[in-house]
Amino acid sequence: MEQILQTTYLWLKAGHIIFVIFWMAGLFMLPRYFVYHQEAEPGSAEEARWIDREAKLRRIILTPSMIMVWVFGVALATGMHFWSAPWLHAKLLFVLGLTGYHGWLVGYGKKLAKGQRPLTGTKLRMLNEIPGLAAAVIVVLVVVKPF
Ligand code: HEM
Repeated sequence: MEQILQTTYLWLKAGHIIFVIFWMAGLFMLPRYFVYHQEAEPGSAEEARWIDREAKLRRIILTPSMIMVWVFGVALATGMHFWSAPWLHAKLLFVLGLTGYHGWLVGYGKKLAKGQRPLTGTKLRMLNEIPGLAAAVIVVLVVVKPF
């Protein structure tokens, strides 16, 4: 029994990390797409291609991966009785931040598709630092468990 639980835990953790990688990759890629999208002539065929690429990245990678990260993460926290651990609360704060950032990116993509370009390329590039910083903090919290 002990062996089965240990194996299940390892498979859940493997699944969690795999989808964390996909989700983070999508979160890094989408704002880069937005930068190139904004450099395309409004109404051009090039712009239409970026709208299509952004929608595919969102539909095929970004949103399904975020859901799977949450599913595996919640299963791990429940299975390992981690819900009262302070490091998990801190981690969840940052993960909720990343989830909010994800939602904001989806909204920004919809505005771009309507022809609006609310932010400059420089601002988008700066925003691109957010997921990297958040991921670094999250990994330290879950691996080091400092509190
Ligand atoms: C969506 C909500 C999330 C929940 C509820 C969650 C929860 C968990 C739990 C309970 C573990 C097992 C910890 C252990 O066994 O010591 C874990 C492992 C891990 N999580 Fe998450 N997680 C979430 C999102 C994320 C995100 C967004 C990242 C990275 C950006 C991440 C990175 C990791 C890593 C690297 C591990 C493996 C740690 C190790 O083996 O020592 N998680 N997560």
